[in-house]
Amino acid sequence: MPNDINAAASGQFLIGGDLAVNRLGFGAMRITGDGIWGEPKDVAEAKRTLKRVPELGIDLIDTADSYGPYVSEDLIAEVLHPYTDLVIATKGALTRHGPNIWQVVGRPEYLRQCVLMSLRRLKIDRIDLWQLHRIDPRVPKDEQFQVIADMRKEGLIRHVGLSEVSVADIQAAQKFFPVTTVQNQYNLVDRKSEAVLDYAEANNIGFIPWAPLASGNLARPGSALTEIAGKLGATPGQVALAWLLKRSKVMLPIPGTGSVKHLEENTAAASIKLSDEDFAALDSEARRAA
Ligand SMILES: NC(=O)c1ccc[n+]([C@@H]2O[C@H](COP(=O)([O-])OP(=O)(O)OC[C@H]3O[C@@H](n4cnc5c(N)ncnc54)[C@H](OP(=O)(O)O)[C@@H]3O)[C@@H](O)[C@H]2O)c1
Repeated sequence: MPNDINAAASGQFLIGGDLAVNRLGFGAMRITGDGIWGEPKDVAEAKRTLKRVPELGIDLIDTADSYGPYVSEDLIAEVLHPYTDLVIATKGALTRHGPNIWQVVGRPEYLRQCVLMSLRRLKIDRIDLWQLHRIDPRVPKDEQFQVIADMRKEGLIRHVGLSEVSVADIQAAQKFFPVTTVQNQYNLVDRKSEAVLDYAEANNIGFIPWAPLASGNLARPGSALTEIAGKLGATPGQVALAWLLKRSKVMLPIPGTGSVKHLEENTAAASIKLSDEDFAALDSEARRAA
């Protein structure tokens, strides 16, 4: 793999107007065990992957207290603390009861515990970007937003993000604090959050698409995705990432992996520039598939 792979080629974004990151980041959910539960099968490779992240110019790492739980944050701190020019974006509000089981708890006292414990695990005094993993439908939204606003005022959180939200949710939260990022599922074939993305772009809110590599059956032989990838000497996954980066200047993809090889391959997508024709061909094929 060449040494000139650098996430800086994806361009930069200012989170909250003052926190600069390269747009192509890293998702740290996959450095855990099956079902995002417990230790990863290959802990040494997970640590090598984390060590390689800043070497490749990636300065935005997405994690959550619930990944493992705790395993992802603990490994990040073990391998990368003290963080130099590295934004660790974490999340809270999901409790874990086993592999692939996630239960939301948005009671204010629990959200405060999430933040305080992430600070301890990450060994920092302030979280650069803390994201509400889900809004708890059983707790009044205002109570969830108010405790986040309080923690921001107390200096425990620098910037606030939301995850899996609608435009109306963002607007409700904006009465309490500036919403600086939104993290919703979005990729070539999952376009449910198109309106949220448009709102984010219009308001200079970072849009963090999760599951960015997914392309459904578009990776089949003969598809536009496969043909464009072949023409560019790239993989379909790399083209899917390049498509996201071209889709919006506020797009901050965080492809996730526990392998150095995949990390390098994904980061190389930062340098792939799609033509307007290829972008449009992929867009219409993906819309038909979706
Ligand atoms: N806010 C939310 O609710 C939410 C939900 C899910 C995820 N997330 C965040 O979003 C990040 C990305 O989402 P994701 O991990 O679900 O999806 P993804 O990044 O689209 O795909 C990850 C999957 O693809 C594989 N992979 C990665 N690079 C590859 C490559 N170059 N070639 C072949 N396979 C490759 C990974 O396996 P290997 O490990 O084997 O490479 C893993 O199984 C997560 O890490 C997490 O930080 C957020």
